[in-house]
Amino acid sequence: METGRVKRFYQEGFFSQDRLEVRGGRPLEGSVAIGGAKNSVLKLMAACLLTEGTFTIRNVPDIDDVSAMAGVLRAMGAAVSRADDALTIERPAAVNPEAPYMLTEQLRASTAVLGPLLAGVGHARVSLPGGDDFGPRPIDMHIAGLEAIGCRFEMSGGDVYATADNLVGDSVLLEFPSVGATENVMMAAVRAKGTTVIDNAAREPEIADLAGFLNQMGGQVTGAGTSTIIVEGVEELCPVEYTAVSDRIEAATFLAALGTAGGEITLVGARPDHMAMLCRKLGEMGVRTSSDLDGMWAMSPKRLQSADVSTLPYPGLPTDCKPLLVAMLSVAEGVGIVTENLFSGRFRYVDELVRMGADIRTESHHAVIRGVERLSGAPVRASDIRAGAALVVAGLAADGVTTVSDPHHIDRGYESFAGKLSALGADVRRVRPGDSPRPADRRAGPMVRPPTGSHPSPPDGPAMLPKPSQG
Ligand code: UD1
Repeated sequence: METGRVKRFYQEGFFSQDRLEVRGGRPLEGSVAIGGAKNSVLKLMAACLLTEGTFTIRNVPDIDDVSAMAGVLRAMGAAVSRADDALTIERPAAVNPEAPYMLTEQLRASTAVLGPLLAGVGHARVSLPGGDDFGPRPIDMHIAGLEAIGCRFEMSGGDVYATADNLVGDSVLLEFPSVGATENVMMAAVRAKGTTVIDNAAREPEIADLAGFLNQMGGQVTGAGTSTIIVEGVEELCPVEYTAVSDRIEAATFLAALGTAGGEITLVGARPDHMAMLCRKLGEMGVRTSSDLDGMWAMSPKRLQSADVSTLPYPGLPTDCKPLLVAMLSVAEGVGIVTENLFSGRFRYVDELVRMGADIRTESHHAVIRGVERLSGAPVRASDIRAGAALVVAGLAADGVTTVSDPHHIDRGYESFAGKLSALGADVRRVRPGDSPRPADRRAGPMVRPPTGSHPSPPDGPAMLPKPSQG
């Protein structure tokens, strides 16, 4: 399961200078398989620390974040292996309950080990992951929730030292419906004495998926998916086989790609019932969606209409969809206002979109987007998973070539992103250092201006040479 890519990540501390090259102008057509939800699988993997034995999780995407979480579990003594889309995790009787900075820095979701380690081992040392491109990533609500059921915390040298000699169920009122805090409290409370009631809990489908996993292990969790989750502590849990829920954000990414490229696609395995607000917003923009026996069907209009968008906890519009929606609004007719309500610093990719010709102004946590008819291909850089995906999505509506450097961010959350888009008819390919340029690129030379106007460039149209990536 350790791919060459991930090995480099750990051994050399930097990534290759791979790039994704996107030539816009081709509509999407056909079917794409949506994998298991990254944001669920990572938490299910952490939950395997709750008890000794062999777990199997199916529908696990082959992405770098899963490999990084496997690294965290291995560092604790677990054996992790993959066969097709199934991950087998053997949790030994004794684990080393430590997640050092080297690992937590790479994977913010690694803080999800805190709850299961406290319930399954009784103590833990987890290094604080620090901020990222989203802004700060505090865990004060995780700590307050876990303290309410008997955990004790000390901070030193950037590490959280936690102990839980005696977990006792109690009421936990979260200040905000934090996904991570809800999950950590659920995973610890499942082994507490008595009843824990989590109020103002997050309602994301991934929370319900985790509750399903815990219940199959023998836990007693009710109300997941609502704002009040009740956990009756149990004395014993057992390892299980479980299939992770479908990734609504991967599905949203292909819907966004459809929006900018045009066309008609089927998202096999998608769960439209987990994407109601997004589908409503896409409907306002002119994208038609419906449930399908296979999952979901969608068709894009000739040109998208603008809409106002505001991110909120589920069932509101996911913050993860915001960069994708900004990319769509960049080429929609009219003006759209996007408001980010969850993370302060999630607009960095906007500068990259502006370099592609988008008309976007940001002010605090708002962005005002005046749609242009077409973008123009440019060398751009991915700054996080969804921002990287959004730049590829924008490239589908650009004349000329868009070269997205640092695609390792995209690899963290998408299995074969370029491959899946290509299978739908898009012209997206991964370029590795040393790959020979296409004949058309050799002809075009470095100083060619991309064509403008509403017509897509021909597949062998002019290209711009990318700036060397700084890795
Ligand atoms: C968030 C998203 C989740 C998404 C994930 C990955 C929401 C509500 N959560 O989950 O859908 O899949 O990112 O991109 O949309 N906060 C604190 N203290 C805490 C915990 C959180 O102040 O202890 C704040 C965060 O800074 C943020 C908000 O609460 O402003 C939501 O955080 P949370 O839901 O915990 O984030 P994630 O679990 O990372």
